[in-house]
Amino acid sequence: MEPILIWFAFLLIPYCCFAISFYQTAAWSLTLLLLFFYIFIISLFLNLCFVVPGGFAWKNHLKELSWNTFLGLLPQMGPLAHRKLAVMASLSHAKRLMAVSLGSTRVIISSHPETAKEILCGAAFSDRPIRESTRLLMFDRAIGFAPYGMYWRHLRRIASSHMFSPKRIASLEGFRQVIANNIIEKVCEEMSERGFVELRGILQKSSLDNVLESVFGISDLGNNNNNNIGNNKWDELGLMVKEGYELIGEFNWADYFLLGFLDFCGVKKRCHKLASRVSVLVSRIIEERRINGDFKMRNDFLSVLLSLPQEDLLSDADMVAVLWEMVFRGVDNVAILLEWTMARIVLHQDIQAKAQHEIDMYVGQDRHVQDSDIANLPYLQAIIKEVLRLHPPGPLLSWARLSIHDVHLDKCFIPAGTTAMVNMWAIAHDPSVWADPWTFRPERFMEGDFSIMGSDLRLAPFGSGRRACPGKALGLATVQLWVARILQKFKWLPSQAVDLGECLKLSLEMKKPLRCYAVARSVNN
Ligand code: HEM
Repeated sequence: MEPILIWFAFLLIPYCCFAISFYQTAAWSLTLLLLFFYIFIISLFLNLCFVVPGGFAWKNHLKELSWNTFLGLLPQMGPLAHRKLAVMASLSHAKRLMAVSLGSTRVIISSHPETAKEILCGAAFSDRPIRESTRLLMFDRAIGFAPYGMYWRHLRRIASSHMFSPKRIASLEGFRQVIANNIIEKVCEEMSERGFVELRGILQKSSLDNVLESVFGISDLGNNNNNNIGNNKWDELGLMVKEGYELIGEFNWADYFLLGFLDFCGVKKRCHKLASRVSVLVSRIIEERRINGDFKMRNDFLSVLLSLPQEDLLSDADMVAVLWEMVFRGVDNVAILLEWTMARIVLHQDIQAKAQHEIDMYVGQDRHVQDSDIANLPYLQAIIKEVLRLHPPGPLLSWARLSIHDVHLDKCFIPAGTTAMVNMWAIAHDPSVWADPWTFRPERFMEGDFSIMGSDLRLAPFGSGRRACPGKALGLATVQLWVARILQKFKWLPSQAVDLGECLKLSLEMKKPLRCYAVARSVNN
């Protein structure tokens, strides 16, 4: 819409009120006068904020905004932000690049594979915008939000060689299998106790245990009598992660307006409290491991950090931040992807039968599916790719990027300090990118080799470029193995209509937890 029309619309409202008030009694007139004065002030404010193409935050860059832009946005886009932004980009012919304002923050959004590649893989957008809650929760000293530079590179190198290397992922298969057994046990329990299964709780707990093993090596610690912190510390850490998700998902005015001194919803206070609880608990775990002195013989991430050569050692505070981030990042995405996958499997019985047939053909029922079988299960892999296309856990690629210098993107000038987002959900649902995009059809990935690891921006649910997700191989290995194991064991049926409603919090969750029936499969069915 033309900005000038919006000016007129806003200015018209108070003048109409004024005109009406002439025909009313004195008391009414006074009330209406006050009302239109109020509306006038609001409309003036809105005009200032919104009529600048791209919104208020772009007011100093109007000359550069010759490209397709959109009017300013209210900061709170709600639980379907990815959908609203996709519609806005499409309506304003700004799929390649759209400029918006989140309060006083300048933002560009790409809903197109080409500009997405430029943002994610170019050198200009190697930083991340840091919100207040993120900083208060110590994430600015961890991989995800550390400013691009020496420290970030150092952390990334340690993590790739010790936490996410193929060898390390393979060495954790035993524990993933133990958890898969637990999942199967819990499913049987729930079926006999409640008559149906609600998977969310089971998957969240399993995902938490999996990450805790990788980060702290909990299976060993459980048997360690010298461990005087107590095993409920892992439950406590799980609760802290949950609270962290709530706080990061909470809207904080200070992130978008110059209102840093205010704390309307008490977010700052709660972040401070949570950060100090996390600090105390994780520091005690670190200290205990030091005292035990067995870290040189172990291969969990904490032990690796403690065994680094002197010149590479991190301070205790940085170690706390890095370990806390790994747990925080590793739990939610995996559990959410598993729940979406199971929802689709329950909904599409034909696809489920095909996947089970594939498992029966290559693995059979006499032994459990193993990591090494996954390469022989292309249809199962295709199902998970299709789920990542239709329900990417990070539809806006989670944590955005920040330009570290001025740059030209798609021939448009982008000043340093601009936040950039990629609407991966919009790209994955775009009919000009994907044929029949709303249909769940894993077969589309059987037609050729399609990598979802970041080389093809038509579907890059783990991001791309230097800040792409380092946990993608671990996350995928976990999801593939657990889905294969529970498909091998049970036939999954709906216990009520499957609701595919979405809710974007920190990740894109199912709005309502999936409930279904799990019926044990026999060799012949
Ligand atoms: C299904 C599972 C997962 C999905 C869909 C996912 C998705 C993402 C996305 C979209 C990004 C941003 C990438 C970018 O800016 O280009 C990211 C970053 C990150 N992820 Fe994941 N992730 C998953 C699993 C994990 C796991 C298991 C871990 C760790 C245990 C992890 C740790 C991280 C970290 C540390 C970053 C920040 C990287 C950096 O800024 O250098 N992720 N993830």
